Amino acid sequence: MQKIVFNAHYLMYFDTAMADYWRTLALPYEEAMQALGGELYVKKTSVIHHASARFDDLLDVAMQCQKIGHSSIVFHGAIFRGDDLIVTCELIYVFADSITQRACPVPEALRQVLLGFEDGQSVMTVKTGHWDDLGWDAMEIRIEVFVDEQLIALELENDEEDAAAFHAVAYNGLGQVIATGRLLKGQQGQGRIGRMAVKRVLRGSGQGAAVLAALQTEATRRGDNELALHAQTSAQGFYERLGFKGRGDVFDEVGLSHIEMFLAL
Ligand SMILES: CC(C)(COP(=O)(O)OP(=O)(O)OC[C@H]1O[C@@H](n2cnc3c(N)ncnc32)[C@H](O)[C@@H]1OP(=O)(O)O)[C@@H](O)C(=O)NCCC(=O)NCCS
Repeated sequence: MQKIVFNAHYLMYFDTAMADYWRTLALPYEEAMQALGGELYVKKTSVIHHASARFDDLLDVAMQCQKIGHSSIVFHGAIFRGDDLIVTCELIYVFADSITQRACPVPEALRQVLLGFEDGQSVMTVKTGHWDDLGWDAMEIRIEVFVDEQLIALELENDEEDAAAFHAVAYNGLGQVIATGRLLKGQQGQGRIGRMAVKRVLRGSGQGAAVLAALQTEATRRGDNELALHAQTSAQGFYERLGFKGRGDVFDEVGLSHIEMFLAL
């Protein structure tokens, strides 16, 4: 036994990093490809081994879109252990019709998302405003997250407070809805955050924080002195990470355990 990482595993590491690359682009891969009318197929991979990784090493995998051709997209990857370069790779994908697998031009929308990201531009836009303008889109993601995923009854999800609330909805570069949240007016200058939801496959890539920041900005603008919310205990860490503090005991709401959380503004 050489006690080093088996060479073929590195391709799996790069493939896993590609999934994170799409997530970082705020593209839910399957839905994004469906919307774009094709799929990306690997045409060629080449790997250069510079050094060996060993059991228990902590590795960083970096990916970059290097070139977009007519139907091909070239990614370069590199795996590091600290400052040591372990492996580099080139992955050539071809955009193709998912039924015939015939190559077709890389859609302009995808090209723009990739170029924009590699140029350091934001991959998402947060729109804020009224239910009349944003309700349809907010509802799409809420049903997906609260009703379909968390099995909360649709009638509990729907309430009359939406009409008066301030809403934030996030969109990716293809115009797909990816996250939402709302801000209500509470008692004595308190703003109440609610209905925070991020598309499942995009969680952990900053969408929730961006929506919450937009709601917090509005709360500050209108002079609220505190933000409060009922956090699902599974999301408590998310709010804590953004400065909220828990108060009181855990309680049941819509069949899920919650805790009250606050942030002074
Ligand atoms: C809770 C939710 C809105 C968070 O959105 P998200 O986009 O996944 O969160 P972000 O990527 O913006 O995370 C911001 C920070 O919080 C951390 N975080 C996110 N979810 C977390 C969790 N459940 N526990 C601990 N930390 C968490 C992230 O790691 C990140 O930290 P970092 O800045 O150090 O990297 C999302 O997970 C979601 O929709 N969950 C299902 C529905 C839900 O529970 N809604 C909340 C109802 S109260």
